[in-house]
Amino acid sequence: MTNATLAQPGRISNSLDEFWMPFTANRQFKANPRLLESAEGMYFRSSDGRQVLDGTAGLWCCNAGHGRREITEAVSRQIARLDFAPTFQMGHPLPFELAERLADIAPVGLNRVFFTNSGSESADTALKIALAYQRAIGQGTRTRLIGRELGYHGVGFGGISVGGMVNNRKAFPALLPGVDHLPHTLDIARNAFSRGLPEFGIEKADELERLVTLHGAENIAAVIVEPMSGSAGVILPPVGYLQRLREITRKHGILLIFDEVITGFGRVGKAFAAQRWGVTPDIITCAKGLTNGAIPMGAVFVADDIHQAFMQGPDSAIEFFHGYTYSGHPVACAAALATLDIYQGERLFERTLELEAYWQDALLGLRDLPNVVDIRAVGLVGGVQLAPSAEGVGKRGFQVFEQCFHDGLMVRVTGDTIAMSPPLIVEKEQIDTLVGTLADSIRKAA
Ligand SMILES: Cc1ncc(COP(=O)(O)O)c(C=O)c1O
Repeated sequence: MTNATLAQPGRISNSLDEFWMPFTANRQFKANPRLLESAEGMYFRSSDGRQVLDGTAGLWCCNAGHGRREITEAVSRQIARLDFAPTFQMGHPLPFELAERLADIAPVGLNRVFFTNSGSESADTALKIALAYQRAIGQGTRTRLIGRELGYHGVGFGGISVGGMVNNRKAFPALLPGVDHLPHTLDIARNAFSRGLPEFGIEKADELERLVTLHGAENIAAVIVEPMSGSAGVILPPVGYLQRLREITRKHGILLIFDEVITGFGRVGKAFAAQRWGVTPDIITCAKGLTNGAIPMGAVFVADDIHQAFMQGPDSAIEFFHGYTYSGHPVACAAALATLDIYQGERLFERTLELEAYWQDALLGLRDLPNVVDIRAVGLVGGVQLAPSAEGVGKRGFQVFEQCFHDGLMVRVTGDTIAMSPPLIVEKEQIDTLVGTLADSIRKAA
């Protein structure tokens, strides 16, 4: 026992010991906890009664802001009406309705939707669909998967195998075999402080040709990338890079998977980054913003011809031996449908594009602050990369993150990069507050 406590009157439990927190320095946190009690609109309220501006849409998920009555009501109506129904050899109307609504906003041709409960499950599902598809079309030698350095595809064994964040992989030697990685696209020397997508780096996509030569196209099933890496610290695709990946994958019969768990649902100004940057992959994964973070849910969009390849053999045969108890959960579907209504009713994806220039100007205004080595911003997402302090990588970033929270702003930190992704309902004055608070924190950490 560390005797860490939640010193709050009226609590049933005061202990912080039992909850093993994910992706958290547990002992450091429990010695000095940062606890959120409630949320409304653009703000959290902390357990010590302070208002905290949400600079990260929770964890890149509450794109419509917090406490949306429409979602709360849809969820409570649904749980009262049908709390659960299986979707294995049974069904209920909501996932059909939701899949149809999602296909309407997905890139043209990606009309089939497989439901999951998280981004990690979406990534693993997409990889399994890719492998099973290649086998179904008589390309069973295509078993290799290609990810990218610094990529994040969640924490399942598939996701960490194709992912490229070292700390997430290194303790787990038994990863999927036959995986290779493209180089990441972060190139501060050439692209620092780019406005929008960086100019240099399209040739990094050509590394795929090298991997094809090395392994043989006939052995490669799929390439998976985030169109914009979020978790590794907002790494943007160089101009033309995604197009080049598309050309090379198509030429060699390799599927292209976009992991849009962060970029989906308006973050970069269209429903999906695929549409913003004009590149249609074969499969898209998503989660987070699908339900505005209110109920766990993910989804995988699949091109019609891939789906069709599974619809063979006798009608009585199960076509894909995969699924989750909660695939298409009624309450999650209700949350997602209400969320889509908000996104569309309030034109939040368009709003992101309208605010983009203001957001970029505001963030790029930090470039002359001490230790700022790069700023990257697109849509309503931004990363401010700081030079590491003499105490080691990540110390300065964490100091800024803590200072921001102390001063009423929640940001994310990855190493020494501060990442921001406010809800898409953010107002210009709130962008000013966010950037002002961040600037003060960066100065204090100098
Ligand atoms: C691109 C990407 N893929 C997958 C995931 C994993 O999602 P989850 O935490 O819901 O499993 C994340 C989470 O941040 C992500 O950013």
